[in-house]
Amino acid sequence: MERVRAGLIGAGGMANAVHYPSLAEFPDVELVALCDLMPDKREKTAGRFGIPKTYGDYREMLDREELDAVWVLMPPHHLFDIVIQCVKRKKHVFIEKPPGVTYDQSRMMALACEQNGVLGMCGFNRRYIPLIRKCRERVDERGGVIQCVSTFYKFHVHGRPYYEGAIDILSCDAVHAVDMLRWMGGEPAHLAAHVARRGNTFDDSFNALVQFESGATGVLLANWCVGARTHSFEMHGMGISCFINPDDRALIFVDGKLDPEVITTQEAAGSDERHNFYGFCAENRHFVDCVRSGSTPSSSLDDATRTMRLVNQIYATPVDGSREHWPGR
Ligand SMILES: NC(=O)c1ccc[n+]([C@@H]2O[C@H](COP(=O)([O-])OP(=O)(O)OC[C@H]3O[C@@H](n4cnc5c(N)ncnc54)[C@H](O)[C@@H]3O)[C@@H](O)[C@H]2O)c1
Repeated sequence: MERVRAGLIGAGGMANAVHYPSLAEFPDVELVALCDLMPDKREKTAGRFGIPKTYGDYREMLDREELDAVWVLMPPHHLFDIVIQCVKRKKHVFIEKPPGVTYDQSRMMALACEQNGVLGMCGFNRRYIPLIRKCRERVDERGGVIQCVSTFYKFHVHGRPYYEGAIDILSCDAVHAVDMLRWMGGEPAHLAAHVARRGNTFDDSFNALVQFESGATGVLLANWCVGARTHSFEMHGMGISCFINPDDRALIFVDGKLDPEVITTQEAAGSDERHNFYGFCAENRHFVDCVRSGSTPSSSLDDATRTMRLVNQIYATPVDGSREHWPGR
């Protein structure tokens, strides 16, 4: 494959801010056609990125264009049908997080990819943030993660539910922190969780203690009715501790020394641009490389489904044994 022929569905915020700017930098990707329901959005976006063909109906685009892979950049409740149609037409598919609205949607999309012999990838971009990768390398040099913490906080008091309630906060957005917990610690073996409704009419506080199959310990702390958006990770190994704010810097402490090594997120990425230092460029590069080589993406839809399963487990394993926050309650 000389160049990956890319079809693009969605000309919205994330597409314009981070994904198409990333793809436009790759010499081995050809932006063949773009589809969006909104004529003004698709024409503006096509003009900005020099995309020669535009469509209002994605099925027409899939029927007419020869594409290797399709980026479906859509709110989660609009994903499923489009992804299935792409996969049935044997196109590799990249989607934003979350991978559908539920574990089951994610699993069925992953299964469809497997049955049709195509790759599916979910853009869990935090895994691909260069600063986080650097810290992970340092911890792996010392035998791997033995303890990790994943936090995500937002100020969303008396807020509207996501997409008018089409999806819950943990599955939609705090899922970044859940995915990172799995990425740092591995597969969960046991957990106890505390989910609560504090400042909203829907669940807005999600906390869990996880024992991983490796024996490592993980902690999730996520709350949508606190001070402001803050997002951090801790990765600890034997004699090493990384405290990471992916928007800013990491402090790396080794062997009892109180003076940490400091790496900024921009230094780690070699760029001041958000699509580079926040992992979006790297995740797109990874997907394109996987399409070219036929290898499975790190955050394949199958892998992303395991993150959605952990989301379900957090709801279903309350520390006090109550069933107040079970899905479908
Ligand atoms: N990774 C991150 O940090 C991050 C941050 C924000 C959002 N997201 C995710 O990105 C995804 C996209 O969010 P967004 O804010 O870019 O969305 P958006 O609403 O800005 O854009 C979606 C676009 O899709 C178009 N569209 C909808 N249905 C369509 C259809 N059937 N055919 C063609 N076009 C259609 C809409 O007209 C719109 O232009 C969401 O899943 C969200 O969770 C991820």
